[in-house]
Amino acid sequence: MNRSTAASLRRHSPWLALLLTAVILIGSVTLTVYVSAGQAGVGAPLPDASSLGSLAPGFRGPQQCAECHPAEFHAWADTTHAKASFNPAFRELLHEAAEPGECFACHATGYNAVTGQFVMEGVTCEACHGPYRASHPGQSMEMAASQELCGSCHTSTLAEWESSRHGQAGIACVACHEVHAQRTRVKASTDALCAGCHQQNTQDEIHQVHKSERIVCITCHLSRPADQASQAVSGHAITGHSFAVDPQVCAGCHQD
Ligand code: HEC
Ligand code: HEC
Ligand code: HEC
Ligand code: HEC
Ligand code: HEC
Ligand code: HEC
Ligand code: HEC
Ligand code: HEC
Repeated sequence: MNRSTAASLRRHSPWLALLLTAVILIGSVTLTVYVSAGQAGVGAPLPDASSLGSLAPGFRGPQQCAECHPAEFHAWADTTHAKASFNPAFRELLHEAAEPGECFACHATGYNAVTGQFVMEGVTCEACHGPYRASHPGQSMEMAASQELCGSCHTSTLAEWESSRHGQAGIACVACHEVHAQRTRVKASTDALCAGCHQQNTQDEIHQVHKSERIVCITCHLSRPADQASQAVSGHAITGHSFAVDPQVCAGCHQD
C-alpha cells in the first residue's frame, strides 16, 4: 500500500486502515512460516527465506485473500493445486530429480527461473492472479480465464485440447472445470456435463446401447493411462483431453 492510499483510507475510515495493516502483517508472517516450513521438508537446493524480500515484493499469500474472498479460498483450500508442493508422490520424485528447483515452476508460486527460487508452496491465488496489487480492490486482480493460463503448467493437456474439436470450437477449460475447486462443473460420473452441449450426436445405436447399460461418456471418451507419475514430472501426463475414443477401451469390456 503506498502512502497516499493509506492516508486517504485513514481519512475515510480509520478502522479499515487498521484492519488492512493487521491483515498485511498477518499475511507476511504466514508467508514466512509457509516458506520456512517447506524448507525443512525438502533437500537442497531450495529458496533462501532471507532473499524473499527482494525476490517477492508483491506477494502476500492466500490467507490474505481469504480475508475478503472466503468463498474462493474455501473452494481452493482442499485442492491438489493448494497441495501441489506437498503431494507425497511429488516429494518422492523431487528427491530424484536432477534439477529439483525446476519442479517448482509448476508446483509452487512465484518461481524465478534465473535464481531457481520460489515464493510460496502450492499453486496459490497469486500463481494465477499474479502478485497482490497494493491498491486492490481499487486496482483489479482480474485476469483472462484462458487456456494459456492453465496450459502454462498443464502442457500436455493443452496440446491434447488444442488438437480436439473442443479446442477448435473454443470450449475453454473453465467451461467444464470450476476454476477454484478444479472439479468439473457437473460430476463427470454422470452424463450431465457432456449432455448439456451434446444431444444430437449421441442418438445412434452405439451410444444408445451403452447409455442403457449406464456406461458414462468419459468411460470411452477420456482415456487416461493408470500410472503416469514419471510423465507428470514435466506436466506431460496424458489426460485424455482430445476426447477421441481409443479403440483399446472397447477391448476392456468386449473380449471379442
Ligand atoms: C510444466 C509444468 C510442470 C513441471 C515443470 C513439473 N510438473 Fe509435475 N505436474 C504438472 C501438472 C500440470 C500435474 C498434474 C496433472 C497432470 O498430470 O498433467 C503434475 C503432476 C505431478 C505428479 C503427479 C501427482 C499425482 O499424485 O498424480 C508428480 C509426482 C509430479 N508432477 C512431479 C514433478 C516433479 C518431481 C517435477 C520436477 C522434476 C515436476 N513434476 C515438474 C506440471 C509440472
Ligand atoms: C488455477 C488458477 C487460479 C487460482 C489458483 C485462483 N484463481 Fe481466482 N480466478 C481464476 C480465474 C481464471 C478466474 C476467472 C473466472 C472466470 O472468468 O470464469 C478467477 C476469478 C476469481 C475471482 C472473481 C470472482 C469469481 O469467482 O469469478 C476472485 C474473487 C478470485 N478469483 C479469487 C481467488 C482467490 C482468493 C484465490 C486463492 C484462494 C484464487 N482466486 C485462486 C483463476 C485462479
Ligand atoms: C481488503 C479486501 C481484499 C483483499 C485482501 C483482496 N481482495 Fe480481491 N476484491 C476485493 C473487493 C472488495 C473486490 C470487488 C468485489 C466485487 O466486485 O464483488 C475484489 C475483487 C477481486 C477480483 C475480481 C476482479 C476485480 O479485481 O475486480 C479478483 C480476481 C480478486 N479480487 C482477487 C484477489 C486476490 C487473488 C487476492 C489476494 C492476493 C485478493 N483479491 C485480496 C477485496 C479484497
Ligand atoms: C502454476 C501452475 C498451474 C496452473 C496455472 C494451473 N494448474 Fe492445474 N495443476 C497444477 C499442478 C502442479 C497440479 C497437480 C498437483 C498434484 O497432483 O499434486 C494441478 C492439478 C489440476 C487438476 C486436478 C488433477 C487431479 O488429478 O486432481 C485440475 C482439474 C487442474 N489442475 C485444472 C486446472 C485449470 C482448469 C487451470 C486453469 C484455470 C489450471 N489447472 C491452472 C498446476 C497448475
Ligand atoms: C469438455 C469438457 C472439458 C474441457 C474443455 C476440459 N476438461 Fe479437463 N476434465 C474434464 C473431465 C470430464 C475430466 C475428468 C474428471 C473426473 O474424472 O472426475 C477432466 C479432468 C482433468 C484433469 C485431471 C486429469 C487426470 O488425469 O486426473 C486435468 C488436469 C484437467 N482436466 C485439466 C484441463 C485443462 C488444463 C483444460 C483446458 C486446456 C481442460 N481440462 C479442459 C473435462 C474437460
Ligand atoms: C460447453 C459445451 C460443451 C461441453 C460441456 C462438451 N462439449 Fe463436446 N463439443 C462441443 C462443441 C462446440 C464441439 C465441436 C462441434 C461439434 O463437433 O459438435 C464438441 C465436440 C466434441 C466431440 C468431437 C465431435 C467430432 O465431430 O469429432 C466429442 C467426441 C465431444 N465433443 C465429446 C464431449 C464429451 C465426452 C463431453 C463431456 C465430458 C463434452 N463433449 C462436453 C461442446 C461441448
Ligand atoms: C461405448 C463407448 C462410448 C460411450 C459410452 C460414448 N461414446 Fe461418444 N463415441 C463413441 C465412438 C466409438 C464414437 C465414434 C468414433 C469417434 O468419433 O471417436 C463416438 C462419437 C461421439 C461424438 C461425435 C459424433 C459425430 O457424429 O461426430 C460425440 C459428440 C460423442 N461421441 C459424444 C458422446 C457423449 C456426449 C457421450 C455420453 C452421453 C458419449 N459420447 C458416450 C463411443 C462412445
Ligand atoms: C465399460 C464397458 C464397455 C465399454 C468400454 C464398451 N462397451 Fe460395448 N457394451 C457394453 C455392455 C455391458 C453392452 C451390453 C451387453 C452386451 O451386449 O454385451 C455393450 C454393447 C455393445 C454393442 C451391442 C452389442 C450387441 O450385441 O447388441 C456394441 C456394438 C458395442 N457394445 C460396441 C462397443 C464399442 C465399439 C466400444 C468402444 C468404442 C464399446 N462397446 C465399449 C460394455 C462396454
